[in-house]
Order: sequence, then C-alpha cells, then structure tokens
Amino acid sequence: MRTDYTQIFQDSAAVEKYEHIVYAPDSYWSAINRRQRAYLRGLAKRAFPYRRPVQHDFACGTGRAIRILHGLVRGAHGYDTSAAMLAKASEVGAYAMMHQIGESGPIPQPVATESPAIVTVFRLLLNVDEAVRERAIAFAAQALPHYDAGLLVVENHGNAQSLRHLRHRTHGDKPWFAELSHEDVAALLDRHGFTIVEQRGFALFTQGWYGRRWLRPIAGFVDDFATKLGLAGRFSVNVLYVARRTRPTLGDLASGDLIAAPDAYAPRDAAPELPFPDHQEVPEEAPVVDPDRPRTDPDAESW
Ligand SMILES: C[S@@+](CC[C@H](N)C(=O)[O-])C[C@H]1O[C@@H](n2cnc3c(N)ncnc32)[C@H](O)[C@@H]1O
Repeated sequence: MRTDYTQIFQDSAAVEKYEHIVYAPDSYWSAINRRQRAYLRGLAKRAFPYRRPVQHDFACGTGRAIRILHGLVRGAHGYDTSAAMLAKASEVGAYAMMHQIGESGPIPQPVATESPAIVTVFRLLLNVDEAVRERAIAFAAQALPHYDAGLLVVENHGNAQSLRHLRHRTHGDKPWFAELSHEDVAALLDRHGFTIVEQRGFALFTQGWYGRRWLRPIAGFVDDFATKLGLAGRFSVNVLYVARRTRPTLGDLASGDLIAAPDAYAPRDAAPELPFPDHQEVPEEAPVVDPDRPRTDPDAESW
C-alpha cells in the first residue's frame, strides 16, 4: 500500500491525469462509469420514490459520483482533502457545495441535512490504510444514523475475487497494487453498523482486455450484458455495495451492551436546503475522443 496516496491528489498534474487520462471518454474506467451511472440513477429513483435524498460524497475528487446523481438529489455536498480536486470538480460541473477536510484527526462532520441522504464513497477504500477506511465509514454513519435515514454506496475498484487477482503474482509486492475482498468491505461496514443490501459489479474483465483492439468489443459487450442483468456482483473487478444502517456503531456501545449511547441516534440540526434543480434526466455526455492524448498511464490507473 502506498503511503503518499493523499498527497498525490494535491498536485494539479495528478488531477489533470485523473480527469483526462483515467476518465478519458473512451477509457476502461469511463466504460465502468457509464454502467455505474445507469445503475445508480435507477437505484436513486427506486430507493427514494417520495423525497429525493441529499448526497454526501466523501473523497469526492472531481465529483464523479455527484455528476452521476445530478438532478436526482435535493442537494449535494462534496468532501475531499485536496483543494485541487475540489476546484476541478466545480470546473467540470459537479453541482455541489464543496468542503475541504483534513486527512486525519477527528472524523469530519457531514453538513447536517434532513433525511433522506445518500452517502457515496467511491474509489477510496482500496488504496488507503485502515484508519482512513474507518474514518470514511464513520463519516457515513453520522449522516445515516438509522435504517430509514438513507443509503450508503461504496466502491471497491480492486476486487480480490476478480480476474484482476491474477496480476497479484507479478505485482503483489508493489506498493500500488492493492486488493479488497467482499468480506473486507462487509466487515468494515459492519463495524459501523451497516449491512449490505445490494451488490453490483460493472466489469468482469480487466483493463488489459480493453487495451487490445480486437478484444475490447467482446469484453465491452460481455460487461455491458452482465452488468445489465446484475450477474457481475461477485467476480467483477469493480463493485458497488449498497448498505443501510441496521444497528449502532460498535464504538457507540458500552462494552457488552446492545443499547446505543444516548446521543447516537439524536437528530442533528438540519442546515437549510440548497436551491437545487428539480428532478430531471441529464443526458449522458457524448464522448469526445482526442486522438493525440496518451491512452493510458499505468501509475494513475491504479489510483
Ligand atoms: C481516486 S480519487 C476518487 C475520486 C472520486 N471519488 C471518484 O470516484 O472519482 C481519490 C480521492 O480521495 C481523496 N483522498 C485521499 N486521501 C483522503 C483522505 N484521507 N480523506 C478523504 N479523502 C481523501 C483524494 O484527494 C482523491 O480526490
């Protein structure tokens, strides 16, 4: 595991790489992002039929998850350690209030909002240490104090039970090569009182398959198909877990007790709601492919 993960994203060159190489319109990750978008927009409509949620996107980066849910939320807040990432998010049209947070120390407080809420933690857990993982989910637990408060959606972009695991033999000892299993994610969420209620995968094939001209259409077709039918949840490289709060955080409990600390479920004062666009379908951005840009960056792809 690399120790400079948080620092990498302070650099504006890394921000540009993330937005324009990792998420170039025809990249492997953009294909995954398109599938995630279709799924998440359907999830938001089905899970919140009466009142749109407020989104809290932890480690929001360039606001990818905020852009995905645009129009289906009442308001959105992005939280990140990197001022450069937050600035880029606003520049590329992530419609949210942005908050710069510290990389360690007390758990950042989500802005108090009325229920329901949707908390997104995308592309963070894989590459950070235990302390940051715990902090991210502890943040989510504050925004989602009970079952009906809304949903937590977390991304694992290096599933240990996927084809990507084959690279473990050659890259397992490299600091940038990390893996996360479904069990790791479930245990992390469980420690904070969350139970996974849905799990979806978005790419059975690894990036290498998309890099070969003759393999790419086959891999793309199979991944589109498997994603649509919800068949890829277990063995996909990239997985989203949807969770609900089903009990208090272990830390809220007195030893051996099953009763939450008195204020664990207390509502916090809600901030006034932001004026936000009404429910609307947002057309998917048409990919604009620049033939001259670098096609991959092996370092950045693992971020
Ligand atoms: C790979 S990017 C993911 C961005 C976005 N969530 C996405 O899926 O596109 C990882 C983000 O985590 C942020 N980050 C790194 N360390 C962090 C920490 N300790 N707490 C919160 N965010 C952190 C980085 O600044 C970066 O924006």
